[in-house]
Amino acid sequence: MATSVAVILAFAACSDDGGSEATAGAGGNTSGAGVGAGNPTSSGNVDPTTSGAGNPTSSGNVDPTTSSGNVDPTTSSGNVDPTTSSGNVDPTTSAASGGSTCSPAVDIAAPSGNPFANARLFVDPGYVTKVDSSIAKVTDAALKAKMEKVKEIQTAFWLDTIDAIKKLPAYLDAALKLQNELCEPVTALIVVYDLPNRDCHAKASNGELHLNENGTQRYQQEYIAPIKQILAAHSGQRIAAVIEPDSLPNIATNLGTENCDEATAQGYRDNVAYALKELNMPHVYQYIDAAHSGWLGWPDNQKKGAKIFAEVIKAAGSPANVRGFATNVANYTQLSYSTEKYEQQSNPCYGELDYVDAMASALSAEGLGDKHFIIDTSRNGVGNIRDDWGYWCNNIGAGMGQRPKANPGGATNLDAYVWVKPPGDSDGTADKNAKRFDAFCGYANADQRAPEAGVWFHEYFVECVKNANPPL
Ligand code: BGC
Repeated sequence: MATSVAVILAFAACSDDGGSEATAGAGGNTSGAGVGAGNPTSSGNVDPTTSGAGNPTSSGNVDPTTSSGNVDPTTSSGNVDPTTSSGNVDPTTSAASGGSTCSPAVDIAAPSGNPFANARLFVDPGYVTKVDSSIAKVTDAALKAKMEKVKEIQTAFWLDTIDAIKKLPAYLDAALKLQNELCEPVTALIVVYDLPNRDCHAKASNGELHLNENGTQRYQQEYIAPIKQILAAHSGQRIAAVIEPDSLPNIATNLGTENCDEATAQGYRDNVAYALKELNMPHVYQYIDAAHSGWLGWPDNQKKGAKIFAEVIKAAGSPANVRGFATNVANYTQLSYSTEKYEQQSNPCYGELDYVDAMASALSAEGLGDKHFIIDTSRNGVGNIRDDWGYWCNNIGAGMGQRPKANPGGATNLDAYVWVKPPGDSDGTADKNAKRFDAFCGYANADQRAPEAGVWFHEYFVECVKNANPPL
């Protein structure tokens, strides 16, 4: 995916306090609610070693290929007919909920609706395999030891193709198995990422589905329907889902550029609404991608974004399980800073914590004041690594950021720090002859050894580990 920046000069506070229109340079210098409140002093003070929820110790060791209870989405006894199901599956009767000897049974209800709270955050076994491949390549014992620690950290499971859905049952089975072993809630984290005309403002993550090749039908029938069926068959566990990174923010600021035309925008709206509606199940917690401070941080952009989010949620029938929004997905923007070397272009949001406060206000103005946030901190540990805020591709010098943690504080309704982008997965190829080569991946700040987006990039993983802040 490519997270872009759209520059709109607006000399306004990070959060426009409602009421006055924050027009570019037009004295919109309000006393925005988000600015003071969003000037966090605590973001750097989270001790990852004491974080209960975010510090899983054993969850990385489940082999999904051997996990019992495998559910074949096409034959599973927990089958839910995606065309007729209301999505309300009774967790006590679901096939995939069985097998627990916990007494009392694990109560998967999320405290205050936050799926990351009071839970073990499930580590993707596929990620552990990738990390192991890097451990096998290094000889430095101290570095190896740091890499071992990464195997205890949750990263998201990306459903970036129809084919990737094949591995979803085993992934969720493994999380459930751990839950049954620990007798405490285990939260899985997935990313829904296969829209037709995906990544319209860039090339590196262009997807397999296209509107002019039956893309909408294929997305709904071959992608969302089986995901729905599998999630429904796993109703005895918590599943957090990040919905379609970059898509709605691209409509807010990049319409008319590259391949972001009107048809694509409408396709994004319709299909995101469809996904939200279909995946509306009580044990699933949906977080719509909401860009980052260097993209929708300008008040005008915030408003546009919030309006689009509200329209799409409404079009989906306002599903009860849209918990909120995910910010900074796969980006490098820090939680808070004021000393980046790049020009901040009058963007009053200095980092993700400010930005969450600002978006919370903008969303409130659209009637979405009840929404919560998660921030991707997987690679935002180090600042001053790029010449422009818009650089999103394998930035040299990046380091892992805050460890996943529920209720970290520091911003409005912040559910958790999460690692959505698995550090070590490439953002895009540096091969100028590749079909999906994007110019951003050829810039001086971008590591020129990079493979295709999503492919394991050992050298970059080493970099992210070495530069981790807080250190591993
Ligand atoms: C890629 C996906 C990949 C994801 C996680 C995205 O940039 O396009 O294919 O799964 O990153 O690494």
